[in-house]
Amino acid sequence: MASKSLCFLLLSVLVAYYIYKPLPENIEEKWKVMLMDATFRSLGHLGTLAEMFGMKHYMDVMMLLTYAEGTEPTSNDQVIVTDTSFSNVPVRVYIPKGHSTSLRRAIIYIHGGGWCLGSASMQPYDQLSRQSAHQLNAVIVSVNYRLAPKFHFPIQFDDVYNLVTFCLQEKFLEKYSVDPNRIAVSGDSAGGNLAAAVSQMLLHDPQVKVKLKIQLLIYPALQAFDLSTPSYKDNAYMPILSKTLMIRFWSEYFTTDRSLFEAMMSNKHIPSQDAHLLKYANWSTLLPEQLKKNHVYNMPANQNTFFVKKYPGLLDVRASPLLAEDEKLIGLPLTYVITCMYDVLRDDGFMYVSRLRKAGVHVVHEHYDSVFHGILLMNSWPFDFSIAHRIVDKYLNWLDNNL
Ligand SMILES: *[C@@H]1O[C@H](CO)[C@@H](O)[C@H](O)[C@H]1NC(C)=O
Repeated sequence: MASKSLCFLLLSVLVAYYIYKPLPENIEEKWKVMLMDATFRSLGHLGTLAEMFGMKHYMDVMMLLTYAEGTEPTSNDQVIVTDTSFSNVPVRVYIPKGHSTSLRRAIIYIHGGGWCLGSASMQPYDQLSRQSAHQLNAVIVSVNYRLAPKFHFPIQFDDVYNLVTFCLQEKFLEKYSVDPNRIAVSGDSAGGNLAAAVSQMLLHDPQVKVKLKIQLLIYPALQAFDLSTPSYKDNAYMPILSKTLMIRFWSEYFTTDRSLFEAMMSNKHIPSQDAHLLKYANWSTLLPEQLKKNHVYNMPANQNTFFVKKYPGLLDVRASPLLAEDEKLIGLPLTYVITCMYDVLRDDGFMYVSRLRKAGVHVVHEHYDSVFHGILLMNSWPFDFSIAHRIVDKYLNWLDNNL
């Protein structure tokens, strides 16, 4: 009996130890955050094990969460939901059942998941799209681009670009009664990366006549150049996106070869000969003082050109839109950026805001100082955070007034 109790006690301590994680003071609903983080971490450990034994690719295991959260395209009395494809790119479309006879607004939504995971059908994305369609009386096209590790850069970008240009054509606009002057592109995390890259490309594409009114970048990843910014350092172990996982995502975007991952982890993938590009991602000049703290800025000191030669995507603005020249940013649409304090990607967002403003782009920057990466998706059971609803309400309100 005593030994049973002892076992139980030991087990409880172990479980508590596994779940417990010291979190910043101002994070709300801490225990829920810890439980959620422990769930993600467990899946990650399972992925690492499966990979170690040669059973599955790490991302195949992580993908279980995407499947587990999958939903059917079910319509209700507010929104008609269909899975279909446009220009050979699979999409989930949400059409509001409004009785208005005027033209509607439209949002093309690009989900996150590090170019490796996620789907428009995941419960949190499905919910956000339904809510957007209903509240804004807008057509939402949520895109299922192809994912790594099966497909690498620039396939993800190309899929999204094809889809967006398809949606900007007259044929599509007429069929769905969309107002060509009121179209936005929005995305979170890797989706924010694709949204930013697509917006830049559209600006200089003579084939595209209809222009975007707004780009919404929700805690976007914007550069694979410097993976040692203050936010990568300060938030390396924050829920739910660790530095290791983000770098794994970046490296998988380009290749499944693990040597790129190793080089990126030590921030030695960019040779000093490409340092001229660093001014576009120089956190020491682009970040506000309070985020720099006592971090010291270092130039790349490595001479290894192997990775940029083998994976030219590393220097490509379609992967790292923050590396675009100043002139390429001029004329970008009205921009809404969300950043989170406890997020490795925080500084990417801040640097882009600062560069866009210098280029004369109108930017609305919502920085949340008590949240972590992925918060917008924490909108449904069992990981439903009240702050997530406040952020979504603000986002939809802003869209309602500006799109
Ligand atoms: C980055 O900014 C710092 C000044 O804050 C400067 O010393 C450094 O040379 C800059 N690096 C590049 C590559 O522009």
